[in-house]
Amino acid sequence: MALPMPEDKSESPAERASQLRHQIEQANYNYHVLDNPTISDGEYDALLRELRGIEAQFPELRSEESPTMRVGGQVGRGFRPVRHPRPMLSLGNVFNHEELNAWFERLHRLLPGTPLDFVLEPKIDGLAIALTYERGGFRLGATRGNGLEGEDVTANLRTVKDVPQRLQTGPIPQTVEVRGEIYLSIEGFERLNARRAEEGQALFANPRNAAAGSLRQLDPQITAQRPLCLFAYQIGYAIGLEVETHWQALDLIRDWGFPVNPLARHLESEEEVWEYTQWLQDERDRLGYEIDGAVIKVNSVALQEELGFVGRDPRWAMAYKFPARQATTRLLDIQVNVGRTGTINPFAVLEPVTIGGVVVRLATLHNEGDIRRKDIRIGDRVIVQRAGDVIPQVVKPIVEDRTGSEEVYQLPDRCPACGTPIVRPDGEAMARCPNPRCPAQRYRWIEHFVSEPAMDIRGLGERLVQELLEHELIRDPTDLYDLTEEKLLSLPGIKEKSANNLLTSIQRSKSRPLPHVIFALGIRYVGLQTAELLAHAFRSLDALRDAPVDTLEAVEGIGRKTAESIVEWTATDDNRAILERLKAAGVTSDVGHLDGGEEGPVSGLTFLLTGKLESLTRGQAETRLKDLGARIAPGMSKGVDYLVAGAEPGSKLEKARKLGTAVRDESWLALLLETGRLPE
Ligand code: IVH
Repeated sequence: MALPMPEDKSESPAERASQLRHQIEQANYNYHVLDNPTISDGEYDALLRELRGIEAQFPELRSEESPTMRVGGQVGRGFRPVRHPRPMLSLGNVFNHEELNAWFERLHRLLPGTPLDFVLEPKIDGLAIALTYERGGFRLGATRGNGLEGEDVTANLRTVKDVPQRLQTGPIPQTVEVRGEIYLSIEGFERLNARRAEEGQALFANPRNAAAGSLRQLDPQITAQRPLCLFAYQIGYAIGLEVETHWQALDLIRDWGFPVNPLARHLESEEEVWEYTQWLQDERDRLGYEIDGAVIKVNSVALQEELGFVGRDPRWAMAYKFPARQATTRLLDIQVNVGRTGTINPFAVLEPVTIGGVVVRLATLHNEGDIRRKDIRIGDRVIVQRAGDVIPQVVKPIVEDRTGSEEVYQLPDRCPACGTPIVRPDGEAMARCPNPRCPAQRYRWIEHFVSEPAMDIRGLGERLVQELLEHELIRDPTDLYDLTEEKLLSLPGIKEKSANNLLTSIQRSKSRPLPHVIFALGIRYVGLQTAELLAHAFRSLDALRDAPVDTLEAVEGIGRKTAESIVEWTATDDNRAILERLKAAGVTSDVGHLDGGEEGPVSGLTFLLTGKLESLTRGQAETRLKDLGARIAPGMSKGVDYLVAGAEPGSKLEKARKLGTAVRDESWLALLLETGRLPE
């Protein structure tokens, strides 16, 4: 922090202000990032008050970066407390088969001779919320807090697309409270952290903390930019509604329009429960979001009531917890690679260690600031964490184990790929290689350009890209459109068939919808969501190229930094030439059927997907349907034109049959996505 240094002695106002800022930042970090407050609200307010006092008295000590400059000066500490009409309980834990059996035995002792069936759900690793609806309208959203009292985060929850503003179909009770878990997908978490790393902000330790931090933003606009999701799993209470079983409750919740986890199962026997916990544990890495166990619930509501509670835990539900996914190992070295926009990304080389069945050798370290903040040194024993398919992260060093021989890390002076001196622009956290022709940056750019959310060019693996670059068949992504069979076959090891497949794929990419083309340009801070906003606002690459900063910033959801980064990109001759060449190659340069509902081949039609798809995820299928102009329904209702059912479709399928909705399978969907037309 650049503070004017005082001319006089020790306890100067400048020093005290700096000390206070440090304490407040630390408290914010503990509260928001670690989700682990270290001081009381009262103490926090006292620190802020003192700092405001000093800044009022010595205006020269004010700084844009001071925590007093933030919204109300108390980030995230301004939510109204809400008392939960029914306490939000926690769950008892079991960790193995024996402990699970002991729970079953306890149930049988309490309910002798009563046959039991169960519902098993993944235990989502996010944060619990309660959503109250009155006469079908969303009225109140609260965090769990201490279980008795939470925070009113209604305004923020209104920005979460999975939270229905109105209950949709089925019986609508006078009042109902639906409970569920707010979470971030692993991809959403990684994107958020990557962006924070670039902007030099403190990183979230895991998706759960990121979700908690995002929900507790005082400014709902910030929450709106975070890709928060919801799985609803419980009716907290309802006035004017009776349900007999939890399985029925889940059906109702789904009909009301909430996402219910598709892996929830109704199971008839204790063996099935055990087997399903094991199946889920194996599936864990493939889910795309973090789960830390399975929740097993007695299905009958009457029996739930009879079983009641012990302390804060219900007797009728139990969490089976999966093994932890942290381990300690030694940090052997820190190396760097070069990102698409020239960022120098440090990563950890570890003594190999097995975490949750996977051998981990490398872990990300984000940026130099993060290494310093955590005080990670080469030679340290460190805690490493893995989540889903995320690149493992170094959580922190084990300081007590230090021997004194550990080394503080220094970033190299030169780019490891091209030798250009590394720069660190003022106020930026990431050191960068400033050479736009750096081969490492070129490589990453092409990798980004062909990726699935960008131009979706298949058949261009890492080796082939390297070879194309080495043989100078391509220098930038637009050169892909000049590739011919002859040129490709001149490379060692490429067969005619794969060359042709690649050329077809390149050809097909020319009709990618505008948002994906904008995303593919690889402009700093322009992720797919931002690219969508830009495509809607400007409707062509030409209009985007010519937009000044103010016009860009006027687009809702585009901030100053992003606007400036876009102009910086479109202002350079190299990049303007890229846009011209894309146009010349015939790449979509203006909007076709962006709005959904009008011009697309399936526009006006509403789809719903259920069950597991083989060839792509449901999210991917939904995005591609939307690109074709289709709408995606929040749940099964009369408004749905086609239900696409994958494997293990569940209750949506039954409902569709009852409603007489057209049901189609994955091969039909594949044909639709391939041809852009409704198959016969
Ligand atoms: S049911 C009495 N179902 O786990 C039932 N909880 O340790 C209480 N959680 O605070 C909750 N997934 O945040 C339930 N499918 C699920 C869940 C779930 C995650 C969380 C929830 C709760 C905590 C209890």
